[in-house]
Amino acid sequence: MDDLLTVMNRLMQVFAQANVPSIELPQVAVVGMQSAGKSSVLEAIVQREFLPRGSGIVTRRPLVLHLVQDKSLKVGEEWGEFAHIKDRKFTDFNEIRRQIEIATDAEAGKGQAVSNKKIFLTIHSSTVVNLVLIDLPGLTKVAVGDQPKDIEKQILAMLEEFIKEENTIILAVSAGNVDLANSDALKLARKWDPQGYRTLGVITKLDLLDQGTDAADMLLNRVIPLRLGYVGLCLRSQKDINDSKSMKKALEDEEKFFRNHPAYTSFADRCGTKFLGQTMNTILLNHVGKTLPRVRTQIESQLIQTEKEVMKYGPAPEEQGGIGSTLLRIISDFSVKYARTLEGDVSQSSD
Ligand code: GDP
Ligand code: NA
Ligand code: MG
Repeated sequence: MDDLLTVMNRLMQVFAQANVPSIELPQVAVVGMQSAGKSSVLEAIVQREFLPRGSGIVTRRPLVLHLVQDKSLKVGEEWGEFAHIKDRKFTDFNEIRRQIEIATDAEAGKGQAVSNKKIFLTIHSSTVVNLVLIDLPGLTKVAVGDQPKDIEKQILAMLEEFIKEENTIILAVSAGNVDLANSDALKLARKWDPQGYRTLGVITKLDLLDQGTDAADMLLNRVIPLRLGYVGLCLRSQKDINDSKSMKKALEDEEKFFRNHPAYTSFADRCGTKFLGQTMNTILLNHVGKTLPRVRTQIESQLIQTEKEVMKYGPAPEEQGGIGSTLLRIISDFSVKYARTLEGDVSQSSD
């Protein structure tokens, strides 16, 4: 965790000053059927409640969530801001959720229709990794209520816009209590990431499986193998949310659930929200490492450009060259340090 935070922060700091075009932040997008638990998974990752969740179609516009680390903020001082609401800092996360709902109704109507117009939310906190998380509507087959007939296509197009990007880590979320053999989420992920380098399987609702059944084979990557494997979760039910069960309590209960369940106890340390966070960090490090050569080329050509200008116009604009060199040095450090991590050290969750 610290490694990723440190590396990402150093990179982001220098990038911010370096004026390098189109540095791609890694982004994490959730795909899955309606009510699979996508919004719940994102909340568990951030450990804050601010997303509309519930049964039926709740997420109806893409939410692009920028997490920004600000070391100067103490616990409890986290705040959010929306691109469409100028000059307002939100410190109340319930109010953030309300604003997402208002913005959703404003574009997609109060019914069950969707809109591909993105909501941009930025959250500042001392405990997050600089990262973009994207909450998306769920895959659906049949139009209901006021949904247009082509709702399936509309949502598919919305998801593909994000997951076709090479810098998107795909969290393919499925509920454990439904048949995964024909998972549309996994099919979609495979279409855009055939090698499986950026798809992580997430299985939710393991607490809801029929008595006597379990998802151990699935979690151990024996049923529909994914290169990066699967992480099983047991998140808060609707009743838990209604009863205001805290995220902290949910985390503790989840840990107990896996530790005490006969089918999962032998690999309980590779299950749950905490392990999901660790796995994502490894994947993100891997991913950052992969994009660095491209970034490096960009910076090198920018340096050459700067040098040319220096030759033309005399004394150098000092910072420009300086920042470029610093960036190259950081990238080299990083590449050496993580050379081994990059060789596929991320597949711990396969048996
Ligand atoms: P989304 O439509 O995929 O974004 O799903 P949501 O995050 O809105 O969750 C749908 C419902 O499933 C909510 O009522 C959640 O409380 C519930 N839910 C999510 N994960 C779990 C889980 O692991 N166990 C149980 N029992 N309920 C869950
Ligand atoms: Na839902
Ligand atoms: Mg949702």
